[in-house]
Amino acid sequence: MALKNSQFAYGSIAKWLHWSIALLFLGSYAAVKYRHWFTVEDTPANWTALQLHLSIGITIGVLVALRVIWRIMNRVPDEEPGSRMAHFAAKLGHYLLYAMMIIMPITGYIGTGVNAEYFFLFDITKFESTQLFNTLVTNGLNMTFEEFEQPIDFIHKELGGEIIVLILVFGHILAALYHHFVKKDRTLRKMTVDAA
Ligand code: HEM
Ligand code: HEM
Repeated sequence: MALKNSQFAYGSIAKWLHWSIALLFLGSYAAVKYRHWFTVEDTPANWTALQLHLSIGITIGVLVALRVIWRIMNRVPDEEPGSRMAHFAAKLGHYLLYAMMIIMPITGYIGTGVNAEYFFLFDITKFESTQLFNTLVTNGLNMTFEEFEQPIDFIHKELGGEIIVLILVFGHILAALYHHFVKKDRTLRKMTVDAA
């Protein structure tokens, strides 16, 4: 299987990045929702669920950075036949998914007031304790962490909230299934079994 994308399909690197990020996305929601629904504040389970959310989210951030670089260096496989409107909607959907995948880890990291215990292996310093925070926020914006955190948390929670995720991610999944089972074209195969 080729590493790079071809005219016909995504290569193995793009496929691995796509599917591992999709799984991690699910994991990050499972952790944060488990925390809200099934744990009581200030218990070890509550802390573990939060730390899993932070660790998974940071991993997504790193993988997305690699994915964007790889995407810029590669061609995109040819589109399947369809109307101009359908091609435009698909492109827009992909760009919005990329935007969400970039904004969520960044707002998560810069808006969190505790260190991340990365999968309980080592600590990642919280943004508030970095020199960058002092330069940009304390001196640049003249704000405390509490003032800075509020709008950032708002974006993280609203953008990650059910409505936007439902429209973007489920719309994306439904579109892939529609292509595969109704239009019976190669869209889903380009991201799964097809050799690049
Ligand atoms: C793609 C990555 C991420 C996604 C999709 C995501 C999604 C979410 C969502 C949906 C919530 C709100 C949960 C709710 O109110 O029901 C949330 C809360 C939160 N996220 Fe993230 N997040 C991501 C990455 C991160 C990262 C990298 C960090 C920090 C390093 C982080 C820190 C937090 C914190 C502290 C909360 C509040 C905790 C809570 O409500 O229990 N997130 N995240
Ligand atoms: C069961 C879940 C999923 C399925 C079946 C699926 C399917 C696909 C397929 C078939 C493509 C290729 C589309 C084309 O070439 O026109 C694709 C691309 C893409 N998917 Fe997914 N996907 C899933 C989950 C996700 C998730 C959770 C995200 C992001 C959070 C995501 C983000 C993207 C992006 C950004 C692209 C464009 C890739 C590029 O051109 O660089 N996908 N997906």
